[in-house]
Parts: sequence; structure tokens; C-alpha cells
Amino acid sequence: MLQLSALSDIRQQCEQVRCQGLRIGFVPTMGALHEGHLSLLKAAKEQNDVVVCSVFVNPTQFNNAEDYKLYPRLLVEDAEMLAQVGCDVLFAPSAAEMYLKPAKLTFDFGSLENVMEGAHRPGHFNGVATVVSKLFHLVRPHQAFFGQKDLQQFAIVQQMVQDLSFDLELVCYPIIREEDGLAMSSRNRRLTPEQRQIAPKLHEALQLLETQLAKTSIEEAKQAAVQFLSNYPQLRLEYLEVIDANTLQPIEQLQEAEKAAICLAAFLGEVRLIDNVLVAKK
Ligand code: PAF
Repeated sequence: MLQLSALSDIRQQCEQVRCQGLRIGFVPTMGALHEGHLSLLKAAKEQNDVVVCSVFVNPTQFNNAEDYKLYPRLLVEDAEMLAQVGCDVLFAPSAAEMYLKPAKLTFDFGSLENVMEGAHRPGHFNGVATVVSKLFHLVRPHQAFFGQKDLQQFAIVQQMVQDLSFDLELVCYPIIREEDGLAMSSRNRRLTPEQRQIAPKLHEALQLLETQLAKTSIEEAKQAAVQFLSNYPQLRLEYLEVIDANTLQPIEQLQEAEKAAICLAAFLGEVRLIDNVLVAKK
């Protein structure tokens, strides 16, 4: 596996691959890789000739300096895992080179970002869109792979690709969970053993809400899930929404949406976790 950090090197490498008529599958990450990332890499490998993975803890998408500082950085371990799943190129640039000067261009995704993550993390999606568009320009992939755990991020990147006519296909893969249901996340590494025991309650709350939706109104189903989570005072719920998965807007009745999802964010200590489930149509 080739490991590159200079912008000029990744640009040149990907250009060469393209000139040979080969397809590039790209998995952008912030590292501290887990099975969720590996499922994206395996899919990228199956569907493309060359797989590029970026590992870059992007400073511009963190609205909390402490969260940025404490985000796990494990490049040596990440490189080993990537080599094992057959990744061809690891791109791990420095923040100094990615942002030679602070970006002046800003993104505003309107209603797509005024809810959930965007509402609670001001500037987050501006940072995501900035870095993802930079990475797309550098790598020029045929396909780019993202995880459903960041459902709002996927909708925003989809909008950006459409609005800016990026010539690539976006692919979204399902959430990979631990045996007890906890959605895999790089931030799980920061949980204490006690917090780790409680974290799967988030998925249980989503499942409970989904079951309740078959029997009662969205409002009452949400109340039941909030009530369930109140048994675990260590969990501080930030939001719990039943949304139209296309527009990301909260809905009051399932019939309003062609595809619905239940999304939440909660703090366990200082660690912020998100999760979601797509609601199966009955
Ligand atoms: O999902 C992530 O890990 C990040 O938001 C991404 C897409 C790599 C951009 O920094």
C-alpha cells in the first residue's frame, strides 16, 4: 500500500490511475478505523480497481476544541488495517497543507442543515463540505463511500455533489453495530468501561421507538423512548427526531414520508454519540 501525505502526490497518483482507464473507489475517513470503515473499504474494493482511503482529522468540522484535541489519532494501526483489507493508497495529509490559508468560501445547505447535527454543531457541515470537496478534487474518484451512521452528512454531501456537478457516484452503506447494538464509532474508544455498558441503550431506545410507531402516534412513541432513556441519567439526550429521510425534516405522521428515519444524539460524559435507524414500511 502506498502512503502519501503531499497534495501534489495524491493528485498525481490518482491522475495516473485515471489515465490507465482504471476506476477509483474512495473512502474518506478521520481515522481510528473500525469494522464500519472496513465494510466501506471492502465494498470500494469489490466495485473498483484502485481503492484510496483518506485519514484526516479535519479541524474545520469540529465546533468543540476539546473534541478535536481528544479525537483518536492512530495512523500506524489504521495503516495496518488498511493494508490488510487491500487498500491501495492511504492519503494522510497535514492540516497545514490542507488549509494553507483559512477557507473563505462557506456552504449553506439551508433546511438540510438547520436540523439535528447542523442545529447543534454550528459550522460543522460547512467544515465537512469544505474538506469533502477538497478531497474529491484531489482524488477525483469514480465512487465515494460513506456510512449511514452520519445520515445527515450523506444527505448534505449528496446535495453538494448535485449542486457542484461532481462527476462521481455516492454510495451509502448500513451502520455496523457491536453485538450489543452499539453503532460502531471512532468516538466509542473514549468511553469508560461503565459508559460503554450504557451506550447500547441508545440503540434500544431507537428500537423501542420504532416498535411503538406501529401502535401509536410519533409524539407518543418519542415520549416512550425519552422515558426509557431517563432510566439512564448518565445519558444526556440532545435530540431525538422522526424525520423524512429525504428532506431531513421532522414529521408528525409516518405517511408524510416516502422513507422515514429515527435519529438521535446524546452525550455520555463528554463523548457525543449519534445513531439512527431507517423505519421499515409496514
Ligand atoms: O465522516 C467522517 O469521518 C468525516 O466527516 C469525513 C467525511 C471524513 C470528512 O472529514
